[in-house]
Amino acid sequence: MEAKLEEIRANLKKYNQEHLLNHYNDLEEAKQKKLLEEIEDIDFELVNNLYKNTKKEIKNENDKITPMEYLDKYKLNEKYKYYENIGKKLIKEGKLAAVTMAGGQGTRLGHNGPKGTYDIGLDSHKSLFELLCDGLKEEGKKYGVTIPWFIMTSRENNKDTEEFFEKHKNFGYQKGKNLFFFIQGELPMIDTEGKILIGEDGLVKKAADGHGGIYESLVKSKMTEKMRQLGVEWVFIGGVDNCLVKMVDPVLMGIAVDKKVTVACKSVVKANPHEKVGVFCKRNGRPNVIEYTEITTEMAEATDENGELLYGESHILCNLFSVEAIERMGANPLPYHIAYKKAKYIDKDGNLVVPDSPNAYKFEAFLFDAFGEVDDMAVLRVKREEEFAPVKNADSVGVDCPKTARELYKKFYKLD
Ligand code: UTP
Repeated sequence: MEAKLEEIRANLKKYNQEHLLNHYNDLEEAKQKKLLEEIEDIDFELVNNLYKNTKKEIKNENDKITPMEYLDKYKLNEKYKYYENIGKKLIKEGKLAAVTMAGGQGTRLGHNGPKGTYDIGLDSHKSLFELLCDGLKEEGKKYGVTIPWFIMTSRENNKDTEEFFEKHKNFGYQKGKNLFFFIQGELPMIDTEGKILIGEDGLVKKAADGHGGIYESLVKSKMTEKMRQLGVEWVFIGGVDNCLVKMVDPVLMGIAVDKKVTVACKSVVKANPHEKVGVFCKRNGRPNVIEYTEITTEMAEATDENGELLYGESHILCNLFSVEAIERMGANPLPYHIAYKKAKYIDKDGNLVVPDSPNAYKFEAFLFDAFGEVDDMAVLRVKREEEFAPVKNADSVGVDCPKTARELYKKFYKLD
């Protein structure tokens, strides 16, 4: 043990992170062991590079951005039925699974607990998880199948999530048979000097690695293997916080098959040219999403010959992948984006610091950064009022909040 400790100490010295062992002697034995394991797991070269990136402005100004083609679900005419029939056949054959990404921290909403457990205030008081599950069960019934459901959690919220499901008898699903939980990856959080933080529990302070971690964690946790065993070929991946998400869409599947693409995404048209959303585009000829912070006013306002915005298709985290595309995307590391956040930590004197303004860097990969792995993909424009009611903010913000989501949900399901 002593030799191992010394070896770890020497490595920490090399990377200027010796403080991680400052309070080692105050920890109970099990925690000491855990801390050493965690330290051994850290990729210090990666942490160094991530820290260097916090000092650099990342410029994509040399990228060649061009519009991405899309289809409008309600202008497909006779092709609608054609695509739908292809998709229906696949669903009936059990070839579709759904993945819900529920590993986010939901900081903007400020709910105490996993976001999926949030009650948006319907008369039924159903949680987001239950609303999503209702949709899946209803669709499954139509096709005579149970759509396998995979839920990505974070280390932080996994226990609470699984307990919530157990408390609700898994909403009629069967864990291990058609309901699976898996935990996404994490990265250490660092302060403005590049030092890795120690959390309240005396262990390394880590945060989930963003929704882009989905591919790697699906592969590493052997969920893609499980999907293959179940005969699944297509996987819808969506967020937990869109209470109108339609995870089962035969038209989207039919388009993917017909166009011979391995990724097909849904979009909604921007509410106005300057709405703060990312939109589909091609970057250097490959599929991508351009963030609102990156797009020029000229590009945001540009229209085609029909008066439609050239960059108007918002990415709403409603994407369909072949299992093979997920495996391909999971094999290559994605770039990390930097978020400056408030993070409680234990300082060098052993005191807990609770900051009231951001003090630490968190690193997140974005799901759409992997889109460039495929040569082409399909984008299907759907109706916002039918498929997009996100719960992002607290009601006081007034947009994308429980109140707006509840109203959209009630309107769509004619609950008033
Ligand atoms: P958001 O980017 O809106 O983040 O996630 P969030 O964590 O829910 O909320 P804020 O930003 O802290 O307020 C979009 C979707 O991606 C999932 C979320 O759970 C949500 O369904 N997500 C996000 C993950 O599963 N893991 C992550 O690391 C980040």
